[in-house]
Amino acid sequence: MKDSKKEQAPAETKTRRSFLDILIGSSLFALIASVFYPVGKYLIPPRQSGEATPKSVLAGMIDDLKPNSGKIIKFGRKPVILIRLDNGELRAFSAICTHLDCIVQYRSDFKHIWCACHNGHYNLKGINIAGPPPRPLTPFNVNVKDGKVFVSKET
Ligand code: FES
Repeated sequence: MKDSKKEQAPAETKTRRSFLDILIGSSLFALIASVFYPVGKYLIPPRQSGEATPKSVLAGMIDDLKPNSGKIIKFGRKPVILIRLDNGELRAFSAICTHLDCIVQYRSDFKHIWCACHNGHYNLKGINIAGPPPRPLTPFNVNVKDGKVFVSKET
């Protein structure tokens, strides 16, 4: 009986040791993965989806946009500002400020485009006229058909 215990003891110790090795190794791997996975996800940006930018979007009905007003529409995934001037003329520009990418807005009191982030100003041709924006806004085409306003990229 004693002999059989002595013979089994090293085998049991070896089994326990290998079990503990596996447990500690797995825990260590999980710890390392939990630290490096978020860092890796942060450093490597996700792939853009294959969503295509449309050539033209319906921005709404012309009667819904009063003179001396503006609104932001979505052009694919990008914002575009559509403006109706006092004389009824329509204009559209990228709504992304060329300074630090804030969304611009139309100020009816200034009668021009304004960026609230750092007090950037653009005239009604999208040209930067005051504040920190370094470049003009990208213009878009505007067409009206049957009272519907369509915005498209300039070619
Ligand atoms: S982001 Fe528009 S003025 Fe700075």
